[in-house]
Amino acid sequence: KGTAGAVGEIAEAVKESNARKKALPAAKEAEEEQPVKAGKHEEPAAPADTAVMDRLRSGITVGGWSLPNINILDKIAETIISDSEIEKRRDTIEEALSSYGVEAKVIEINRGPTVTQFGVEPGWDRKFREIREKDRDGNVSTRQEEVARTRVKVERINSLANDLALAQAAPSIRIEAPVPGKSMVGIEVPNTTFGSVGLRGVMESTAFQKMLAKSRLAIALGKGAGGETIVGDLAKMPHLLIAGATGSGKSVCLNSIICCLMMNNTPDAVRLVMVDPKRVELVNYNNIPHLVSPVVVDTEKAIMALRWLSAEMDIRYKRFSAGKARNIEEFNKNRQPSECMPYIIVVIDELADLMMAAFDEVEHALCRLAQLARATGIHLIVATQRPSVDVVTDLIKANFPTRMSFALTSQVDSRTIIGSAGAEKLLGRGDMLYMPQDVAKPKRLQGTMVGDAVIERLVNFWANQRRQEAQPVQFEDVAQAGADGKKPAEDELLDKARQLALESKNISASYLQRKLQIGFPRAARIMDTLKEEGFGKEKGAEKGDL
Ligand SMILES: Nc1ncnc2c1ncn2[C@@H]1O[C@H](COP(=O)(O)OP(=O)(O)O)[C@@H](O)[C@H]1O
Ligand SMILES: [Mg+2]
Repeated sequence: KGTAGAVGEIAEAVKESNARKKALPAAKEAEEEQPVKAGKHEEPAAPADTAVMDRLRSGITVGGWSLPNINILDKIAETIISDSEIEKRRDTIEEALSSYGVEAKVIEINRGPTVTQFGVEPGWDRKFREIREKDRDGNVSTRQEEVARTRVKVERINSLANDLALAQAAPSIRIEAPVPGKSMVGIEVPNTTFGSVGLRGVMESTAFQKMLAKSRLAIALGKGAGGETIVGDLAKMPHLLIAGATGSGKSVCLNSIICCLMMNNTPDAVRLVMVDPKRVELVNYNNIPHLVSPVVVDTEKAIMALRWLSAEMDIRYKRFSAGKARNIEEFNKNRQPSECMPYIIVVIDELADLMMAAFDEVEHALCRLAQLARATGIHLIVATQRPSVDVVTDLIKANFPTRMSFALTSQVDSRTIIGSAGAEKLLGRGDMLYMPQDVAKPKRLQGTMVGDAVIERLVNFWANQRRQEAQPVQFEDVAQAGADGKKPAEDELLDKARQLALESKNISASYLQRKLQIGFPRAARIMDTLKEEGFGKEKGAEKGDL
């Protein structure tokens, strides 16, 4: 390979920079801040240092809950690659390409936290002819005359990825050819010092604040290869599938999403269901009041949780129809915060464990939840280290349009997740390819990160506001009721019919017949169920239509 030495060097540099960061005292902003006056709220359930708690409050209270201050998050100093290094790299790229006979010029440089993107414009492939000329004195001279030129093929630059990596002494180089919207080839070279992206920095960006003004489920994703902040709206995603080899940054990513939601949402607005069969990452959140039930660590119980969610979804549909709303946003409009229907975010760290336990049921439950979530406000975030087809099935892929891929071990895995190669070239530690819905090409970004100390602080902040009267949901109870055959085999089109019923005022058997392309008896049966659930009551249109 020959790059091993260089990899070692980079690893050293990374270690050094980490050591330097550790040496810095943890951000103490929280303590310098003037204590903000806390609004009225209930006494903490557990004895807490009130002075500390006061400083951590933002002063914003919603429905009796106080939201945390941004100072609860650490400020992370971001490393920026130096100009001299950039120039050196640019020169090596141009030289290396020309040594392989490729004319190319670096026309744009985008500095990211972990990689720098050099935008290369392909030059020309020229063909020459030698011309011999005799001057008056009889001296013969030759000169070259260009006879034809064609653009350098993008594939030629693409095929030089490994050679370029060698020239740059970089562990790996990803080439984006072409960069969407630009006439250049992007060559992404890892920086010698690794730059973490803190949650706080991204949350303070205008991009994030704008997103948050539109959606409470705004999440701070990271920074792109040009250093730009990338944010997302979980409500629009509406589900997220995260893949990556062990140690590539999945759990860090889940943590930062959870923390981001906890920064901006009270338990009245967002509830969480967490499944962590490995019992390592998410159990830290056990005391936050956002949890519907303590973090689920065994697979049996996880399956019950999925059944509970399914039942909860049905209940929500009934409440919508009673409240004449089509979806959660309409339902919550003009309601007091404490009377709102909360969003439910389901976080699963390691899908493979669940799929192994009950393949059919889990796949079916996830897909059903996924299909109907947008209206009901139930969103899934699912992570896995095994992107093989027995875990990430076609059905699951079809229902999780937004994907994130951290470093993967093979091109095949990369194709499974993002539909193209590239994730095998990622550097690990939060370096990812983000593929939002309806986008043809994934975007490379460095994911946000929250330290363990911050998570602990945030968990304590919320745990102190936990209310005694709130009882955790017992997933088993609902799941049992469902399993006892109280609900006989449902028509598989029922969910679709419910949606139609919400969208249309004139729901009727013949309408269903037309829309779902089914026979009348089946449509009538579905209509009966819908009527039992309270749909289509206000009009009585079904009678006239029959
Ligand atoms: N976004 C990130 N920024 C900085 N370091 C990261 C980031 N993501 C992961 N890391 C580093 O990589 C290690 C492994 O990440 P982790 O999320 O536990 O991996 P996984 O869950 O995929 O096995 C972390 O302990 C951390 O040191
Ligand atoms: Mg993990």
